[in-house]
Amino acid sequence: MCGRPISVDEQSKPAALSGQEKWVPVCGLSQLTAQTIVCVRVTGVDLVVLWNDGRAVACERACPHEQADLSQGCVSGSRLFCPRHAASFDLRNGRISYGWSSRPLQLFPARIRDGQVWIDAATIHPRPRRDPD
Ligand code: FES
Repeated sequence: MCGRPISVDEQSKPAALSGQEKWVPVCGLSQLTAQTIVCVRVTGVDLVVLWNDGRAVACERACPHEQADLSQGCVSGSRLFCPRHAASFDLRNGRISYGWSSRPLQLFPARIRDGQVWIDAATIHPRPRRDPD
């Protein structure tokens, strides 16, 4: 469980601009390594940042299968396990485990610099809402 998301939109930290990239700091590395899963909101989009295998991984917070809150899941063996069903996602490419019909989990560029985890906000766009069937 990761509690209230860290909202980057509300913070006054400067963004690092480089070409088309817009790197923003989202949380401290020590916080991420202690918690493993940290909730953040970047440009109005809810994400989770995960600590796995010595690196930071950023992905959407809502499960692409049926929108469960992935911040309630767990990380094991380079996979993020959804708390609602038994499906899991490969943290290298977002693919869902075998036998499930779902698009891949959306991953976003993340890196570590100066003791902070940074995400490229230029790659984050709100997904269009699905109309009810
Ligand atoms: S809601 Fe996540 S696997 Fe079904």
